[in-house]
This record gives sequence, structure tokens and C-alpha cells, in this order.
Amino acid sequence: MLNVEISSQTGKDFEGDVLIVPVFSGRERHRLPLAISKVARQVMDENDFKADYGEMVPLHHPNGVKGTRWMLLVGLGEEETVSLNRIRKGLGSAARYALKRNWKSVGVVSPSTSTLDHDAVQSAVIEGALLANYDMVSFKSKGEGKQFSKVEIFSNGDDTRKSRRRLPLIQAGVAACHKVRDLAATPAMDLYPESFAEQAQKLAKQHKVGCEVMDVEALKKGNFNCVLAVGQGSTRPPRVVKLEYKPKEKAKRHVVLVGKGVTFDSGGLSLKDAASMETMKDDMTGAAIVLATVMAAAQLELPVHITGLCGLVENMNDGGAYKPGDVLRSRSGKTIEVLNTDAEGRLVLADLLHYASEMGADHIVDLATLTGAALIAVGDGVNVIMGTDQKLVESLRDAGGASGEHLWQLPIVEEYRELLKSPLADLKNITGIRWGGTITAGMFLQEFVGSGQSWAHVDLAGAWSGKERDYRPFGPSGEGPRFLLEWLAD
Ligand code: BES
Ligand code: ZN
Ligand code: ZN
Repeated sequence: MLNVEISSQTGKDFEGDVLIVPVFSGRERHRLPLAISKVARQVMDENDFKADYGEMVPLHHPNGVKGTRWMLLVGLGEEETVSLNRIRKGLGSAARYALKRNWKSVGVVSPSTSTLDHDAVQSAVIEGALLANYDMVSFKSKGEGKQFSKVEIFSNGDDTRKSRRRLPLIQAGVAACHKVRDLAATPAMDLYPESFAEQAQKLAKQHKVGCEVMDVEALKKGNFNCVLAVGQGSTRPPRVVKLEYKPKEKAKRHVVLVGKGVTFDSGGLSLKDAASMETMKDDMTGAAIVLATVMAAAQLELPVHITGLCGLVENMNDGGAYKPGDVLRSRSGKTIEVLNTDAEGRLVLADLLHYASEMGADHIVDLATLTGAALIAVGDGVNVIMGTDQKLVESLRDAGGASGEHLWQLPIVEEYRELLKSPLADLKNITGIRWGGTITAGMFLQEFVGSGQSWAHVDLAGAWSGKERDYRPFGPSGEGPRFLLEWLAD
């Protein structure tokens, strides 16, 4: 694992490739260590740098700061309006810059503010730098991945005990985030239900987590008829993976995490167009989040009993594919008329949520790249949350706010429920109305959740970042495990 050090020094004696120095705009620069503030002031006095949020200036062998090859000034904007998220993301941008320059040994000065707790600021700085430290090159023929060799945080005299204590949680969250990025970026030719399940088995063994893989026979026996139907047009047969982490001491709570694991979504016979299919190898992000989160929780020995369910299928076409008009008898017994084979995620989750509801868990949380409409509603920088238990929704939303992985709640609208009714079967898998597609999809899922069960559903609009920004590279954002771990640890 990457060597991370937290020191209470100023950073002026740092020896390495780059010292990242966050600076506030305005005249409030006196809290920077002296030698460093001199440099920053010079650049600002000559009007080359205003320290606007996200503004960056690299300086080669800066005057008076001897040991570092480069100093990278990064603006955080006005001190009065700064937040932990801005710090995490601002530092993340600077770290991405350093990573691309192939600077290996990195120092970061943690900014002192008058409004935020030092330890929370230090944690945000570490998270920003570590989340940015990611470069996927497994599919390049040349070149090694760019990676930091060392990250040193300088608190400039502030107490570092709390952020040191938090470091394992931060590192586990970052590793899980990167794992989700890896899995979601892996082409569907390499990652399909069986190979995903094999990876899960391997990881589970390493982390001493229980792992059961249900193959087609087991799925038939278990009545996972919707999972089987979605998967029946592919040469890659479906799997359901069940992970079980139990803490050594008696757990206070039992949580079931359920993930949509469509390893490729062609749309089936309701075929997607070429452009919409480009990113559909990432339609298993929910399952990847479940896998990465359970492993991280086990590693951290969190005092929560966690069951993870991954519904793994490939939504493809051949002569055996399921068709519009087919009626499926779901695991719950409710029948579903399939009017669009591209609304497959909700079918897979219908069986899994019904299965999860049998476990008598305190909470069920499902995660799914369920609707394109979620992207229309909130964009790719926010995830949608809805559910039957307002307290649960709010505690997850708070964890999202604290971790910088934002969740925005959409309502369950009872007036819409009749839109899901089918003249032929109990339900149909689309409403036929575009408006409110994220809400009606969530309400479809709700039909399979046990009554009275505390449940929340996360529609992962933020799974794929259409552009590089802050600590996120282009492509899979890896969001999910960090807000879940924050919530579970709480
Ligand atoms: N996996 C997609 C949802 C999706 C699309 C996520 C684009 C991220 C980006 C899902 O299976 C799907 O195709 N949903 C349809 C539902 C529709 C047929 C009611 C959609 O959103 O278009
Ligand atoms: Zn689909
Ligand atoms: Zn899908």
C-alpha cells in the first residue's frame, strides 16, 4: 500500500518532487508557513495567481524552499466560503495535476481555516490526494501506470491524532473506490457474470468473508426467474453472489446491500443505439460497489453484520433472448409483463430484493445504474436516493454529504403507482411514459420489498464521469463505497 505520512511540520523542509500548497484568496495568507507564504505572496503580488478555487500555478525550485523540486500552488477561493468538499476536491485536482506530471513523492500542506476542524480538514486533504492517485493502464500496451510513491501531509502545527486514527478508514475507502473504478472500466469481454463471481470468491477468501455463488441450477431452484430471463439471451450464464461478513463480536445491526450487476447492457431486443451502448460495460457498478464495500468493511472489522447480494447477468440477444410481451413470474410470485427488455435492471433487482427481504435485516440498501432519467434529473455528479424509511434515507444522505459523494432524494409518488399496472399481468416493467422515469423505476423495485422493511434505493447517476474533474478521472467515478462505509462506520 502507498506510504502515507502525517506530520505536524510546516512542509518547508519537505524533500521530494512536489509540495502542494493550498492558498485562500484575499489577504488571509498569514497562516501559511513563512518561507512558503513568501513565495505565494510574490506570485500573488505580481498578479499571476489570485487563488480562485481550482486555480493552479507550478513553480520550479521555488525561492527559499529548498528540498522540493516543484511547488504547486492551488487556489481554494475565499476562506469564508470554503468547505471540506471544496478542500477535498481542490486538493484532488492538484494531485491529479501532479500525477500526470509523473511526480512521485508528494507533500501536501493542510490548510488552516478559522471555520473548519483541523482534523476534518486533514482527512479531506488526505482523501483528495489519495482518491486522485489512480491511473488505469492495464489495457495500454506501453507505459507504466503513474502512481505516487509517497504522500506526506503537513499539518503546520495542528494536532494530527484524529486524522491518524482515521487513516485506515480513509485508505480502505479509497482502495474500494479504486476497485470499483477498475471493475467498471473492465471490458465486458473480460468481466462477465462468471468471471465477476470468481473475483468475488477470491476476494472473499482473502478477507475471510463468506461467499456463495448461485449458478443457473441454483437460480432455477431458488426461483430467480427474472434473473434467469434477463440472462437467457447471452452465452454468458447469470450468477448471483451472496457475500456474508459477520463481525467477531455480536453485531448490533444487520444490513443487506444489493447491487445491479449487468455486466453488459445491450438493451436486449429493445436494443440500445451505438452511442448509448458505449458505457454499458459499467452497468455492473452497483454489484462492484457491494463487493468492494463488503471487503472494506471486513478489513476494517466494522461492528455490523453485512450481507452483500450481486445480481450478475449480461443483457444480450440471441435466439433464446427474452422478448417484449413475455410475462415473467418473479421470485415473489408477482407477475411482470416485459414491455421493454432494456428495463432489465429492475427485473434482476426484483428477485434480489425479494430474497433480501426474507433475511429479516434491519436495513436493505440497493445500488443500481437503473435509469438514464436519473442523469437527466441530477447530472453525473450526484446520485439519486429514495426509500421507505426516511431516517435511513437521511442517514445515507448525510454520509454522502460528509464523504463528498452527494445523494439527492426523489419522492415516492403514490399517484404514479397505477402506471406500473399491466392489463395482462400484475405489473409491467415500464410505464410507457418518459417523465419521472427514475421515480417509477424505484417504485417498481418497492413492489418487491417486504412490507414494513426499511429500504433505500440508490440510482447511480454518478457512476460514470463524462469528464475528468477534481479527483475523478474520466470514466467510472468509483463513488459508492465511501459513503456506504461512512454510514456503516457510524
Ligand atoms: N442501464 C440502463 C440505465 C442507464 C442508462 C444508466 C444510461 C446510465 C446511463 C438501464 O438498464 C436502462 O436501459 N434503462 C432504460 C429504462 C427505460 C427502458 C424505461 C432507460 O433509462 O432508458
Ligand atoms: Zn437497460
Ligand atoms: Zn441496465
